[in-house]
Amino acid sequence: MTSITIKQPDDWHLHVRDGDALADILKETTRCFARAIIMPNLKPPVTTTELALAYRDRIMAAIPVETLQSTGFTPLMTLYLTDNTDPAEIKKAKQTSAIHAVKYYPAGATTNSDSGVTNIKYTYKVLEQLSEHGMPLLVHGEVTDLDVDVFDREKVFIDKVLSPLVKDFPELRIVFEHITTKYAVDFVKAAPANIGATITPHHLLYNRNAMFKGGIRPHYYCLPILKHEQHRQSLIAAATSGDAKYFLGTDSAPHSIASKESSCGCAGIYNAPVAIELYAYIFEQAGALDKLEGFASIHGANFYQLPVNEKSITLEKSEWQVPEKLPLGNETISPLCAGEKVSWRVTS
Ligand code: DOR
Ligand code: ZN
Repeated sequence: MTSITIKQPDDWHLHVRDGDALADILKETTRCFARAIIMPNLKPPVTTTELALAYRDRIMAAIPVETLQSTGFTPLMTLYLTDNTDPAEIKKAKQTSAIHAVKYYPAGATTNSDSGVTNIKYTYKVLEQLSEHGMPLLVHGEVTDLDVDVFDREKVFIDKVLSPLVKDFPELRIVFEHITTKYAVDFVKAAPANIGATITPHHLLYNRNAMFKGGIRPHYYCLPILKHEQHRQSLIAAATSGDAKYFLGTDSAPHSIASKESSCGCAGIYNAPVAIELYAYIFEQAGALDKLEGFASIHGANFYQLPVNEKSITLEKSEWQVPEKLPLGNETISPLCAGEKVSWRVTS
């Protein structure tokens, strides 16, 4: 197949940051995605309805009017869960129709997660409200205990936190974000329909060797960290299976070149400039291009109880070279596959 047309996709997990860099970052997502779930891990985090609505306004202001008109791009806002989130905030958020989920970062798990949750039990009153109002909880599924090996953090999280959570809140809609292991794939597969999962292009494309090829490669460092090949194979099987529980979430997480190429480099891979193209490549390699539309454009919308997009996009098989660097406000950023050739291109 040399061309594929699918309903316009949505990105169910995206970091766009704030300030000077917003416009550059949004440009990459709005070139093909109709909607995106916007992560709230700003500094300070987006913890209230008021902060989320103000952030939404800044996002809208950073997108050119013509782009908004042609794509109808809609940012779907989220709240950052803390030990102190007021349960009453959920009803307030729900009533806005602009806020679609609450993000649970275990404190210290990743970028800007210091204000995250120290013990999920402290948030149970908020989770009751989420369950009641039918608002999804988005989970960064890693334990943070320093004595747990970094490659095992997702598995230990499933055993110690997620399994009990699902039992305690059987009705709560949960998205297990950016899953990286066979354990997560199997957990989601066996769970009831109110549990879904996003899968990133980088976890589908690379195993942990990518971080060490010929030297240390900071641009492949993200959290959860890339895993063993056997886990990558499991993710590919899940994403391309047609199972509606798995859907597209890029976790595109921009950090400047300076903050990645450092003695303590930030976690995050900036894949928005190549994300849909890489997903197409992965599905093609798996002989499952016919399953791309479900994964990219339908399963997520159904999970979030939103309509599937009406417009379509077309991808063609036509090689192009990803730029080495892109602007990021007054800094520069290295996109995933920088300087490399990519075989699929969005043509309309
Ligand atoms: O690699 C990551 N980067 N993982 C996350 O969970 C957060 C993200 C970021 O915000 O940079
Ligand atoms: Zn993320």
